[in-house]
Amino acid sequence: MEYRQLGHSGLRVPVLSLGTGTFGGTNAFFKTWGETDVKEASRLIDISLDNGLNFFDTANVYSGGDAERILGAALEGRRDKAIIATKSTFTTGPDVNDSGSSRFHILREVESSLKKLKTDYLDLYIMHGFDSRTPLHETLSTLDQLVKSGKVRYIGASNFTGWQLMKSLSVSEKLGLEKYVIHQAYYSLIGRDFEWDLMPVGQDQQIGTMVWSPLGWGRLTGKIRRGQPLPEGRIKSGGAAGGPEIDNELLYNVVDVLTEISKETNKTVSQIALNWLLQRPTVSNIVIGARNEDQLRENLGAVDWKLSVEQIERLEKVSAQTPRYPYWVGAR
Ligand SMILES: NC(=O)c1ccc[n+]([C@@H]2O[C@H](COP(=O)([O-])OP(=O)(O)OC[C@H]3O[C@@H](n4cnc5c(N)ncnc54)[C@H](OP(=O)(O)O)[C@@H]3O)[C@@H](O)[C@H]2O)c1
Repeated sequence: MEYRQLGHSGLRVPVLSLGTGTFGGTNAFFKTWGETDVKEASRLIDISLDNGLNFFDTANVYSGGDAERILGAALEGRRDKAIIATKSTFTTGPDVNDSGSSRFHILREVESSLKKLKTDYLDLYIMHGFDSRTPLHETLSTLDQLVKSGKVRYIGASNFTGWQLMKSLSVSEKLGLEKYVIHQAYYSLIGRDFEWDLMPVGQDQQIGTMVWSPLGWGRLTGKIRRGQPLPEGRIKSGGAAGGPEIDNELLYNVVDVLTEISKETNKTVSQIALNWLLQRPTVSNIVIGARNEDQLRENLGAVDWKLSVEQIERLEKVSAQTPRYPYWVGAR
């Protein structure tokens, strides 16, 4: 397994981490994602560790907290072998302070995550989204205090825009506080918006990218093709867990090229889609999803080989997106 620096931190992480969005399924939103229980999670973790993948991504809101509980139980007795990332910001309850990145909410959620994960430290703590109501110095000084106390080792952001990330980094620098080392973002061959703003910020500021939903919610696996009925699974189950609307022609054309390259390389469509991401600037890590053991084993096969320059060019040509203003100015 290839290891990379986690952004500009000293921590080295495997290029793949295992996402836990599929763990639990104890509420309607997450049920369509997966229903992995402790026994199955332990098995997925065994396979991951055997293959050099010791990095696990979760969040306080996945399955209403059950994903953290399942991950904690499945890692019991081997916590020291794992690198755990968890998150807060999104809504955890009915009260007005049950969401956001205030000192009140972050400190309460860190304690709750530590308990659910059965650990006394979190390797990476991520703000799940940008909270425009809370002053940045309040969020960042709280995270800084958590790092100083040893409860958190590194901090990251997720789903920020370029300016939100840049402003957060500037405030940390100005106040001498811990800085975000990574940004966790959606990026795939059918969703390349990340490249316009977030990638240049990452390159300029040495912020590593952790890619989420790298297979576009499971669309870039070869099981969704032009003229064929939708197979059972995440996309067919629809709802919010199916992801945003996408241009079907773009998907079919991308899958056609992935299939051509699959024949040339003897790798699967999913492995090629993941390998392409590994060659992109700023990517420190890809958070893979796997509903079962077979999917995990297949996705683990995306590393330790490289697409050729010509294959990458073909994928970039077929997946190219029209720039939005102001990115097209001067780009012609
Ligand atoms: N920061 C954030 O806001 C955020 C948001 C979303 C996710 N995440 C993280 O990213 C992780 C991965 O996200 P994701 O699950 O959406 O990733 P994804 O790779 O885009 O989709 C994974 C889904 O695709 C299908 N799949 C995966 N590998 C396959 C294979 N080899 N062959 C066939 N089907 C395959 C499975 O669904 P089916 O079998 O049902 O088709 C699986 O659940 C999550 O677990 C979570 O940790 C973070």
